[in-house]
Amino acid sequence: MKDLWKKVDDHFAEKFQQDDEVMKNVLEANEEAGLPKIDVSPNQGRFLSLLAKLANARTILEIGTLGGYSTIWFGRALPDDGRLITLEFNPKHAEVARKNIDMAGLSPKIEVIEGAALDTLPTLKDRGFAEFDLIFIDADKDAYPDYFKWAMAYAKPGTIIIGDNVVRGGRVLDADDEMGTAVRTFTDLMADDPRIDATVLQTVGGKGYDGFAIGVVN
Ligand code: SAH
Ligand code: DHB
Ligand code: MG
Repeated sequence: MKDLWKKVDDHFAEKFQQDDEVMKNVLEANEEAGLPKIDVSPNQGRFLSLLAKLANARTILEIGTLGGYSTIWFGRALPDDGRLITLEFNPKHAEVARKNIDMAGLSPKIEVIEGAALDTLPTLKDRGFAEFDLIFIDADKDAYPDYFKWAMAYAKPGTIIIGDNVVRGGRVLDADDEMGTAVRTFTDLMADDPRIDATVLQTVGGKGYDGFAIGVVN
């Protein structure tokens, strides 16, 4: 089944993303730098970018940058005066991401903030960001429950909150799995919070079987 998921995923990536040299270069630069291949897939990147456009997002917060692949998809959805803040713990990842963002021509709109997200999240207000239109959570899975609380703190009515990797091949249901338990706690928080209207969308493709939690703040 996994081979078929990948075949179909590749088919649509080819159809909808012909000649996307920038994204190809980003993935090449990531590989050259030895970054793990845990970015969102091309079709998922496009999907996230479409969500940002649907929401007319002008301010975006991303937790977990890696080489900036998802960052650039979001950056492309921003209007001229749009801003994106992305948080990254690993200095090498942050450096690769900054170069990729520059190559994509998006440096004026995007800032990579280095450090552990739980340390840098409290500083965003002082940097002039009181709220965001869209928040994408994609860093260390154990901290997802904390990231949800921070996302709500930086949300306003209409803010979209998205969590990546909440299914993890079904590990979300495994009580003995630490990562599964963390993402389950995260999705439970989203499900139980009356301030947000949310769901989980399962996905299959070249990156296996996973899913996005997606919610809109009331
Ligand atoms: N959003 C990226 C993938 C992110 S992978 C994409 O789809 O292209 C997860 C990233 O989170 C890694 O680069 C990892 O270094 C970073 N990370 C892990 N723990 C973190 C923390 N505590 N604070 C900030 N970033 C963290
Ligand atoms: C992992 C992290 C991710 O953000 C992802 O999309 C896939 C895998 C991981 O840490 O294994
Ligand atoms: Mg992810």
